[in-house]
Amino acid sequence: MTEQNDSATDSSADLTDRSATRPLRVNSWNGWDPLRHVIVGRAEGTVVQAPEHAVRRDYPDDGFPLGTYGPMPAEMVAEADEQLDNFARLLSDRGIRVDRPTPIDFTQQVSTPEWSQESMFGCMPPRDLLLTVGNEVLEATMSYRSRWFEYLCYRPVLQNLFEGDSRMRWEAAPKPRLTDDSFKPGFWDVFNGLTTDEQLARVRDYDLVLTEAEPLFDAADVARFGKDLFVQLSFVTNRSGYQWLKRHFPDHRVHAVTSTNTHPLHIDSTWVPLRPGLVLHCGERLADAELMAFFKLNDWEVVEAVQPASWDHPPKLSFCSPWLAANMLNLDQNTLCVEEKEERLSEQLSSYGFEIVPVPFRAVGPFGGGLHCSTVDIEREGELEDYFP
Ligand code: ARG
Repeated sequence: MTEQNDSATDSSADLTDRSATRPLRVNSWNGWDPLRHVIVGRAEGTVVQAPEHAVRRDYPDDGFPLGTYGPMPAEMVAEADEQLDNFARLLSDRGIRVDRPTPIDFTQQVSTPEWSQESMFGCMPPRDLLLTVGNEVLEATMSYRSRWFEYLCYRPVLQNLFEGDSRMRWEAAPKPRLTDDSFKPGFWDVFNGLTTDEQLARVRDYDLVLTEAEPLFDAADVARFGKDLFVQLSFVTNRSGYQWLKRHFPDHRVHAVTSTNTHPLHIDSTWVPLRPGLVLHCGERLADAELMAFFKLNDWEVVEAVQPASWDHPPKLSFCSPWLAANMLNLDQNTLCVEEKEERLSEQLSSYGFEIVPVPFRAVGPFGGGLHCSTVDIEREGELEDYFP
């Protein structure tokens, strides 16, 4: 069974007690200020979702050929949850408060008055769903029918924050209709038949599966750098979603970006904030020239990430690329949690002065998760700053 708050192990009881008695405070403006409170996802109950317009799973070698769906194998779930629980414990041992979502039955059929979908997906990765900007937690629209109701898993945590922090702003973007009008018909058949260059051209021109019928975005397509928010146009975020975010955060500079990547889906393995003045870039995916120029103009250093170790071992049933390696969590400006097998990447980052906390996390990959996307910031010390004055 699941609990909303992970209780501490004996050895960490003191620290956890201390974190639990601090008043709740929603506050996080960037990816690097000292972390105080975080949500960590759960693998329990995850399913390979039934096909829908926005996404088609096709794992003929792993028991789920196109058109089939059902629960992820039990041993994979158990292994992933063990690593997620271990990570949650590691964080609470450091005095960071940890909340967990509450899984529901993801095998159930879901519907709105306008459509029905044969299954849900899971409650991983939380970063896809919730965006914290200052004292606001925003529930993203999401753009998969199988993820439409995922917010329910986070409502106990959000309700608790709302009750405990009188300054918290709790927002939800307009619930999307996700009718057939929101998706280009036959997109995958066409797109999958294109050459890499043709696919990249479609990404650059932002001509992907979503139409502009309504605002759509996943929270993980937003990278937070204080006053500047970078929104990646992707398979799950459209221009209208970007426009909505821009109007929703009038005091920020909100930028739309694309990346040279045939499968753009969540920015946090591609353009990763490390600390003021330093950003990690997944080298294979050239960021658009404008984005590069903007950072260089402001004297930021762009670190090209080394080839991930996971390149040679694509995990079973995974829809993520090996660049999940770059999906790391900052505990503060000097401390980075990095997947334990990513030794070269860790060395590269150590050379920039970071202390590396290695975390076993490979088993979580097939659930969509690296260390960043499996978490959501609730509180980091620090205030809103302009890093691109
Ligand atoms: N789509 C990215 C890749 O495969 C992984 C992004 C994971 N991030 C997330 N928030 N789910 O490289």
